[in-house]
Amino acid sequence: MQEKTEKNVRAAFVGEAKAYFRLLAFAEKAREEGNLQISLLFRAIAEAERVHATRNLNLMKDIIVKDTDTNLESSFEREKSISEVEYPDFMKDAEDEGEKAAAFAFSQARDAETFHAKLYERAIYQSMKEDVKAYQVCQVCGYVTDKKAPKTCPVCGAPEEKFKAIAP
Ligand SMILES: [Fe+2]
Ligand SMILES: [Fe+2]
Repeated sequence: MQEKTEKNVRAAFVGEAKAYFRLLAFAEKAREEGNLQISLLFRAIAEAERVHATRNLNLMKDIIVKDTDTNLESSFEREKSISEVEYPDFMKDAEDEGEKAAAFAFSQARDAETFHAKLYERAIYQSMKEDVKAYQVCQVCGYVTDKKAPKTCPVCGAPEEKFKAIAP
Protein backbone atom coordinates (compact mmCIF):
# COMPACT_ATOMS: atom_id res chain seq x y z
CA MET A 1 0.00 0.00 0.00
CA GLN A 2 1.23 3.52 -0.83
CA GLU A 3 2.52 5.60 2.07
CA LYS A 4 -0.17 8.29 2.35
CA THR A 5 -2.99 5.84 1.82
CA GLU A 6 -1.63 3.50 4.46
CA LYS A 7 -1.37 6.37 6.93
CA ASN A 8 -4.94 7.42 6.15
CA VAL A 9 -6.32 3.90 6.40
CA ARG A 10 -4.65 3.53 9.80
CA ALA A 11 -6.07 6.90 10.93
CA ALA A 12 -9.54 5.98 9.67
CA PHE A 13 -9.38 2.64 11.50
CA VAL A 14 -8.44 4.29 14.80
CA GLY A 15 -11.08 7.01 14.37
CA GLU A 16 -13.88 4.55 13.57
CA ALA A 17 -12.89 2.19 16.39
CA LYS A 18 -12.97 5.05 18.88
CA ALA A 19 -16.30 6.30 17.51
CA TYR A 20 -17.78 2.84 18.08
CA PHE A 21 -17.11 2.99 21.82
CA ARG A 22 -17.92 6.67 22.17
CA LEU A 23 -21.30 6.24 20.49
CA LEU A 24 -22.16 3.26 22.66
CA ALA A 25 -21.51 5.48 25.69
CA PHE A 26 -23.73 8.19 24.16
CA ALA A 27 -26.44 5.56 23.57
CA GLU A 28 -26.22 4.45 27.20
CA LYS A 29 -26.58 8.06 28.35
CA ALA A 30 -29.61 8.64 26.10
CA ARG A 31 -31.18 5.44 27.46
CA GLU A 32 -30.62 6.60 31.05
CA GLU A 33 -32.28 9.89 30.12
CA GLY A 34 -35.26 7.95 28.81
CA ASN A 35 -34.70 8.81 25.17
CA LEU A 36 -34.94 5.39 23.60
CA GLN A 37 -35.07 6.56 19.98
CA ILE A 38 -31.86 8.60 20.27
CA SER A 39 -30.26 5.72 22.15
CA LEU A 40 -31.09 3.41 19.24
CA LEU A 41 -29.79 6.00 16.77
CA PHE A 42 -26.42 6.11 18.56
CA ARG A 43 -26.30 2.31 18.67
CA ALA A 44 -27.14 2.06 14.98
CA ILE A 45 -24.44 4.54 13.98
CA ALA A 46 -22.01 2.81 16.37
CA GLU A 47 -22.69 -0.44 14.54
CA ALA A 48 -22.04 1.33 11.23
CA GLU A 49 -18.73 2.73 12.53
CA ARG A 50 -17.79 -0.80 13.57
CA VAL A 51 -18.42 -1.88 9.98
CA HIS A 52 -16.15 0.96 8.78
CA ALA A 53 -13.44 0.08 11.29
CA THR A 54 -13.51 -3.54 10.13
CA ARG A 55 -13.38 -2.46 6.52
CA ASN A 56 -10.35 -0.28 7.15
CA LEU A 57 -8.69 -3.09 9.05
CA ASN A 58 -9.34 -5.41 6.12
CA LEU A 59 -7.67 -2.96 3.75
CA MET A 60 -4.44 -3.27 5.74
CA LYS A 61 -4.84 -6.93 6.67
CA ASP A 62 -1.64 -7.95 4.90
CA ILE A 63 0.27 -5.28 6.82
CA ILE A 64 -1.16 -6.00 10.27
CA VAL A 65 -2.36 -9.60 10.33
CA LYS A 66 0.46 -12.11 9.93
CA ASP A 67 0.58 -15.86 10.52
CA THR A 68 -0.60 -16.98 13.98
CA ASP A 69 2.88 -17.65 15.42
CA THR A 70 3.89 -14.09 14.53
CA ASN A 71 0.60 -12.67 15.83
CA LEU A 72 1.07 -14.49 19.14
CA GLU A 73 4.62 -13.18 19.43
CA SER A 74 3.67 -9.57 18.68
CA SER A 75 0.64 -9.74 21.00
CA PHE A 76 2.87 -11.06 23.79
CA GLU A 77 5.36 -8.22 23.25
CA ARG A 78 2.58 -5.64 23.31
CA GLU A 79 1.14 -6.97 26.59
CA LYS A 80 4.58 -7.03 28.14
CA SER A 81 5.29 -3.48 27.14
CA ILE A 82 1.90 -2.12 28.17
CA SER A 83 2.06 -3.82 31.57
CA GLU A 84 5.73 -3.01 32.27
CA VAL A 85 6.04 0.45 30.73
CA GLU A 86 2.90 2.29 29.64
CA TYR A 87 0.49 1.46 32.46
CA PRO A 88 3.07 1.99 35.25
CA ASP A 89 3.83 5.42 33.71
CA PHE A 90 0.12 6.20 33.48
CA MET A 91 -0.34 5.09 37.11
CA LYS A 92 2.44 7.34 38.29
CA ASP A 93 1.00 10.38 36.50
CA ALA A 94 -2.49 9.64 37.85
CA GLU A 95 -1.12 9.27 41.39
CA ASP A 96 0.90 12.49 41.07
CA GLU A 97 -2.25 14.30 40.02
CA GLY A 98 -4.39 12.71 42.72
CA GLU A 99 -6.59 11.01 40.09
CA LYS A 100 -7.46 8.03 42.26
CA ALA A 101 -10.08 6.39 39.99
CA ALA A 102 -7.76 6.51 36.97
CA ALA A 103 -4.80 5.24 39.02
CA PHE A 104 -6.94 2.34 40.28
CA ALA A 105 -8.22 1.46 36.78
CA PHE A 106 -4.68 1.63 35.34
CA SER A 107 -3.31 -0.58 38.10
CA GLN A 108 -5.98 -3.25 37.58
CA ALA A 109 -5.51 -3.06 33.81
CA ARG A 110 -1.74 -3.43 34.32
CA ASP A 111 -2.33 -6.54 36.45
CA ALA A 112 -4.78 -8.00 33.92
CA GLU A 113 -2.33 -7.36 31.06
CA THR A 114 0.30 -9.32 32.96
CA PHE A 115 -2.02 -12.33 32.88
CA HIS A 116 -2.70 -11.75 29.18
CA ALA A 117 1.05 -11.86 28.58
CA LYS A 118 1.33 -15.15 30.51
CA LEU A 119 -1.46 -16.74 28.48
CA TYR A 120 0.26 -15.71 25.24
CA GLU A 121 3.60 -16.91 26.50
CA ARG A 122 2.14 -20.28 27.37
CA ALA A 123 0.43 -20.48 23.98
CA ILE A 124 3.74 -19.74 22.26
CA TYR A 125 5.55 -22.57 24.02
CA GLN A 126 2.80 -25.15 23.99
CA SER A 127 1.00 -26.69 21.14
CA MET A 128 -2.63 -26.06 21.97
CA LYS A 129 -4.05 -27.63 18.88
CA GLU A 130 -5.45 -30.75 20.54
CA ASP A 131 -7.75 -29.75 23.36
CA VAL A 132 -9.76 -26.64 22.73
CA LYS A 133 -10.97 -25.09 25.94
CA ALA A 134 -12.86 -21.98 26.88
CA TYR A 135 -11.45 -18.83 28.46
CA GLN A 136 -13.16 -16.71 31.10
CA VAL A 137 -12.96 -12.92 30.99
CA CYS A 138 -13.67 -10.62 33.94
CA GLN A 139 -16.07 -7.94 32.75
CA VAL A 140 -14.80 -5.50 35.37
CA CYS A 141 -11.00 -5.53 34.94
CA GLY A 142 -10.28 -7.68 31.88
CA TYR A 143 -8.50 -10.50 33.74
CA VAL A 144 -8.48 -13.65 31.59
CA THR A 145 -8.05 -17.26 32.66
CA ASP A 146 -8.10 -20.58 30.83
CA LYS A 147 -9.37 -22.26 34.00
CA LYS A 148 -12.95 -22.10 35.18
CA ALA A 149 -14.17 -18.76 36.45
CA PRO A 150 -12.81 -18.15 39.97
CA LYS A 151 -15.10 -17.38 42.92
CA THR A 152 -13.57 -13.93 42.99
CA CYS A 153 -11.38 -12.25 40.39
CA PRO A 154 -7.71 -12.29 41.51
CA VAL A 155 -7.18 -8.80 40.07
CA CYS A 156 -10.30 -6.85 41.06
CA GLY A 157 -12.25 -9.12 43.42
CA ALA A 158 -15.36 -9.25 41.19
CA PRO A 159 -17.61 -12.28 41.83
CA GLU A 160 -17.86 -15.33 39.55
CA GLU A 161 -21.04 -13.98 37.86
CA LYS A 162 -18.98 -11.16 36.36
CA PHE A 163 -17.06 -13.60 34.17
CA LYS A 164 -17.95 -14.07 30.54
CA ALA A 165 -16.99 -17.28 28.75
CA ILE A 166 -15.26 -17.21 25.39
CA ALA A 167 -16.10 -20.71 24.28
CA PRO A 168 -15.70 -22.59 21.00
FE1 LIG B 1 -4.26 -7.23 27.24
FE1 LIG C 1 -11.53 -8.66 37.51
